[in-house]
Amino acid sequence: MINKIINIAKEAGEVIRNGFGENLQIEFKTGDNNIVTNIDKAAEKIILDFVKTEYPNHSIIAEESGTKHNSSDYTWVIDPLDGTTNFAHGLPIFAVSIGVQKNDKTIAGVIYDVMNNKIYVAEKGAGAFVNNEKISVTKNKILSEGFVVTGFPYNIKKELNRTINVFTTFLLKTRGVRRLGSAALDLCYVASGVFDAFWERELNPWDICAGMLLVEEAGGRISDFMGNPINIFSKQILASNGILHKDILNVFGR
Ligand code: IPD
Ligand code: CA
Ligand code: CA
Repeated sequence: MINKIINIAKEAGEVIRNGFGENLQIEFKTGDNNIVTNIDKAAEKIILDFVKTEYPNHSIIAEESGTKHNSSDYTWVIDPLDGTTNFAHGLPIFAVSIGVQKNDKTIAGVIYDVMNNKIYVAEKGAGAFVNNEKISVTKNKILSEGFVVTGFPYNIKKELNRTINVFTTFLLKTRGVRRLGSAALDLCYVASGVFDAFWERELNPWDICAGMLLVEEAGGRISDFMGNPINIFSKQILASNGILHKDILNVFGR
C-alpha cells in the first residue's frame, strides 16, 4: 500500500506544481482568511478517485469533501494541499499529506513537499524516511539553543492573547522561532531534525495525521500542551525531539 500512497501523493503534487503561479479560482471557506483554490479541489479529486477505485470500502476524511464512513477498518486522512495561503500567494512552501489509519491508529503517513520534490514516508514500526533516506529528530538538549516552529489558526481572534504570549515566551527562550504556513511540513522538519519542536492549536486531522507518525517514527514525542497523549482530532499539538519535551511543556505553564 505504501508505494501506492507515494505515487498518488506525487500525482496530486504534479497538479499542484503545474498550478503554482497560474491564475487561480479562490473561494472563501469559514473564517476571515480561510481560502480554497481550484487546485486544492483538483488535487483532492485525484486522491479520492484513487481511494474509491482501489479501496472502495475504506473510509475517508478529506479536507475539501468531508468525511465518508465505510465498512472497513481503514480510514484515509487527506489534506490535498497543506499551505494553501502560501500556494495562492506564490510562496513555495506547501505539501500533499496523506495518512492511513487502521482501527483509529495511523499505520502509514506520506507527505510530499511539492516544490522540493521530497517525499516523506513513515510506516508504523518501520522508521521515517525522506526520499528513501532514514531521518531522525534532533538531539538537542538545550532549549536556549532550540530552533522551533509554530502556526497560527485561521480563527486567530479566538485566543489571540494566549497564542501571542506563548509565542513571545518561545522567542525569549529559544534561538529562533519560525512560522512557515504548512503544518504538515512543520512536522516533517521536526521529524528530519531541522526544528526541535512544533506546536499549534486548532488544527484538523488532515493537517497532522501523516506528520504525527513521521515524528514518532523519527524518534520524537507528541502530546497536547499539558503533556497528555493526543489523537488526530485533538485541538492542540506539541511535537518535539522528546529530549526537550518537558522544558517545552514548562513554556505552556505545565
Ligand atoms: C493550514 C496550514 C497552516 C496552519 C493552519 C492550517 P491549509 O492548512 O497547515 O500552517 O497554520 O492552521 O489550517 O488550510 O493550508 O490546508
Ligand atoms: Ca492543512
Ligand atoms: Ca488544505
